[in-house]
Amino acid sequence: MLKDPSALIIRKKAWDGYVLLELRSPRVARRARPGQFLMVRVSGQPYPLLRRPLSIHARDEDSVEIFFARAGLGTAILADKKPGETLDILGPLGKGFVIPGVTKGKKFCLLGGGRGIAPLYFLAQELRAKGGHPRVFYGGKTEADLPLLQKFAAQKMEVFVSTDNGSAGFPGLVTAMLERDLVQSAQPALIFACGPDPMMKRTAEIAAERKIPAQLSLESIMGCGIGACWGCVRKIRKGRAAEWVKICEEGPVFSASEVVWEE
Ligand SMILES: Cc1cc2nc3c(=O)[nH]c(=O)nc-3n(C[C@H](O)[C@H](O)[C@H](O)COP(=O)(O)OP(=O)(O)OC[C@H]3O[C@@H](n4cnc5c(N)ncnc54)[C@H](O)[C@@H]3O)c2cc1C
Ligand code: FES
Repeated sequence: MLKDPSALIIRKKAWDGYVLLELRSPRVARRARPGQFLMVRVSGQPYPLLRRPLSIHARDEDSVEIFFARAGLGTAILADKKPGETLDILGPLGKGFVIPGVTKGKKFCLLGGGRGIAPLYFLAQELRAKGGHPRVFYGGKTEADLPLLQKFAAQKMEVFVSTDNGSAGFPGLVTAMLERDLVQSAQPALIFACGPDPMMKRTAEIAAERKIPAQLSLESIMGCGIGACWGCVRKIRKGRAAEWVKICEEGPVFSASEVVWEE
């Protein structure tokens, strides 16, 4: 894990409610793996004090991108940053997606709900670079929640969209779109997902019903991102028992079969 106190913002793109920032940070970029995250200090002021966890959305030789939704104060402050300003970041943190040894010619389904699409662009690029065929299922409440659609399309990625209100693509939940695809086309080698908990739980059920391995990138409130505060624990199955696990250290990506869903 590295600390870069002056990662320079070199590009910004903003949509209604969503922002993408590209940060020059060569050492962090070189180490970044899909599914890992950064802890970002949003302000030089004492408040808000805690860094915010954000997935590594993409990386280049000397830069990383973050893509985020405005959720509350921290992300609102971050959304106001401009190119030329710097950010204090820690990363890359956590254990990311595990890409199988054999990917060539294999199909992978990548499921992103809303801001959960963030880590899947980097993952799709890596899978493709290794000869795999990523199929991206991108769901939002409305069309406005799909700002990255053009970015995936520009890279000629296979991307399918769904909206809860039917304003674009498949009308309904992204998990329902996945189920339809699993009936209509060949079974994927693996499903990867990131999004709100109900979406992840349903993805885990769909994967278990069809015996398809799945990896889920979980969210939790994170105080430190480095295993010191116990703020981020989730219940994870370990053998026959379930344990509270710090997802910043052991995750955020877990096998779907390991995750215990609270009622
Ligand atoms: C490993 C990890 C990676 C993440 N990657 C991304 C990403 O790439 N893009 C993105 O938009 N968001 C991502 N998130 C969620 C993001 O960290 C939160 O939205 C952000 O911290 C909210 O901060 P805030 O100050 O704007 O909101 P706050 O004012 O702190 O809270 C606003 C609302 O968001 C909820 N919230 C706060 N922190 C989190 C959290 N960590 N997870 C879930 N809900 C939270 C609060 O309960 C509250 O309801 C990630 C979270 C984790 C744990
Ligand atoms: S966020 Fe502090 S222990 Fe995980």
